[in-house]
Amino acid sequence: SKQTITVIKGDGIGPSIIDSALEILNAVGCDYEYEFVDAGLAALEKTGELLPQATLDAIERNKITLKGPLTTPVGEGFTSINVTLRKKFNLYANVRPVKSFEGTKARYDDIDIITIRENTQGMYSGLGQVVSEDGTEAEAMSKITREGAEKIVTFAYELAKREGRKKVTAVHKANILKSTSGLFLKVAREVAERYPEIESAEMIVDATCMKLVMNPEEFDVMVTTNLFGDILSDLCAGLVGGLGMAPGANIGKDAAIFEAVHGSAPDIAGKNLANPTSVILASIQMLEYLGEAEKAERIRKAIAHVIKTGDRTTRDLGGSHGTTDFTQAVIEAL
Ligand code: NAI
Ligand code: MG
Repeated sequence: SKQTITVIKGDGIGPSIIDSALEILNAVGCDYEYEFVDAGLAALEKTGELLPQATLDAIERNKITLKGPLTTPVGEGFTSINVTLRKKFNLYANVRPVKSFEGTKARYDDIDIITIRENTQGMYSGLGQVVSEDGTEAEAMSKITREGAEKIVTFAYELAKREGRKKVTAVHKANILKSTSGLFLKVAREVAERYPEIESAEMIVDATCMKLVMNPEEFDVMVTTNLFGDILSDLCAGLVGGLGMAPGANIGKDAAIFEAVHGSAPDIAGKNLANPTSVILASIQMLEYLGEAEKAERIRKAIAHVIKTGDRTTRDLGGSHGTTDFTQAVIEAL
């Protein structure tokens, strides 16, 4: 039977970039069923809930979700929907690849780095959040487990092996965060021993930031804890032309959610200005996950062609065209 994919169009620029990705999937000959459900502001307006049960049911039932960015309203009582989804479906691995495309305004032209971010623990575990009654003190708890660290580091090495990567760098701050980052590094060293065919490195997170900017060619696969992975992956997006170029896959044992790493971009929403590449690249990750490597590669080549010629690219890529023109150009290139 046909694969059904849950689609959450999301808020802000979400609907326009998701539509772009779906048009491209159709153009490349994908024959999926799509089940459209709401989350975020769109859901709040319709149902009074940010994350309706029907949406959770669809994500669980279909196992594969393509998702636009969601706006989490700032203020009382709203926990991040993304964090909730990642925890609820135990999507422990966040895979964030960045790769140079010729023709962007990026500083480098040969970047090829995958950040593997632990997605459920660390500073984003949501545990122990307390603000004192008088508002003068705040605290939160960071939790790392041996099991969690082992799962994410093993995931990184298995991905490296499968994709013919040469090196895995564990990024940490074990010199200061002795308990949490210390445990992560200890486990990373143990796992590294099981993969003698892959070069293993370890690096402290602040030095990693500097090195990524100065010598990004030293990096191949990075594996790290939640907060560091969030920050480093945006830094990496900056190396290849910005947030419009950066996809992310949230992967667990029983479900996977594919999305752009950026947010709903309210400043450009509704203006046909968004670069849909990030979410198209997320749909490429989805195709690869579904074993459709050939279709994935065709889309990647079409994007590369459009960005290289530069005739119909969006503003963030140095062009003057809209989301829809860019999408049309990719479809023609296919
Ligand atoms: P943002 O990522 O939405 O925007 C940051 C800057 O990048 C803006 O100037 C925006 O115009 C630009 N930008 C982002 N994506 C772009 C694209 N595809 N093409 C061209 N330019 C693009 O971050 P911001 O403004 O901090 O957050 C806005 C909302 O998004 C917030 O409500 C936040 O909670 C939510 N958010 C949702 C995420 C998700 O659903 N995965 C992730 C990050 C933020
Ligand atoms: Mg982020």
